[in-house]
Amino acid sequence: MSGKPHIVGISGSLRQGSLNTKLLLNAKEYLPEHYTFTLADISQLPHYNQDLEEDMPEAVLKLVELCKSADGFLISSPEYNWSIPGVLKNAFDWLSRQAVGTPLALKPAAIMGGTPGGFGTSRGQLHLREQLFALNLDTVNRPEVLVPQLHLKFDEEGQFTDEMGRKLLEQLMANFVQKVERNRQA
Ligand SMILES: Cc1cc2nc3c(=O)[nH]c(=O)nc-3n(C[C@H](O)[C@H](O)[C@H](O)COP(=O)(O)O)c2cc1C
Repeated sequence: MSGKPHIVGISGSLRQGSLNTKLLLNAKEYLPEHYTFTLADISQLPHYNQDLEEDMPEAVLKLVELCKSADGFLISSPEYNWSIPGVLKNAFDWLSRQAVGTPLALKPAAIMGGTPGGFGTSRGQLHLREQLFALNLDTVNRPEVLVPQLHLKFDEEGQFTDEMGRKLLEQLMANFVQKVERNRQA
């Protein structure tokens, strides 16, 4: 792709005060300065229904265009009942379709997540990895960024303050950028 690298962020939480969206916005701060970033809006997508593909909903087309313009994806998600939230699965189902040109396939992704509890999305993140495998993304495997007690780890400005977590996030982003650069040169 030509032009500035463009990264699209997808949060699995629609909540205003989402811890996972905050984590995602912290992660994007580790992108090189010349990278551009857009946070996707998946809140307006209708429930996936193959019948709707005959006249693709506007919100789907908008998301697809955004994803087509992306050189890579940052995905931060809560764990809901040991898996990923339905809204995120719904977005993946739309984006997986040939009818929209599978705009995620073969692109790099980095994933992260956190919970107020002690497991830091470890169960949900396995499902998230599996989903990205199914959609044929090139996901960064290590380090895993799974943050327990995330609600205690932001300051008033929303800065992620956990020292170990910041190191992991920085390494994750370095590995992600390497993939993005390699992919752009291929
Ligand atoms: C429907 C639902 C299911 C949840 N299931 C889990 C779970 O399986 N494991 C867990 O650690 N937390 C679970 N939680 C708590 C979330 O980790 C917590 O609400 C978190 O703050 C959500 O992420 P957000 O702040 O980004 O919205 C659940 C919350 C909801 C609303």
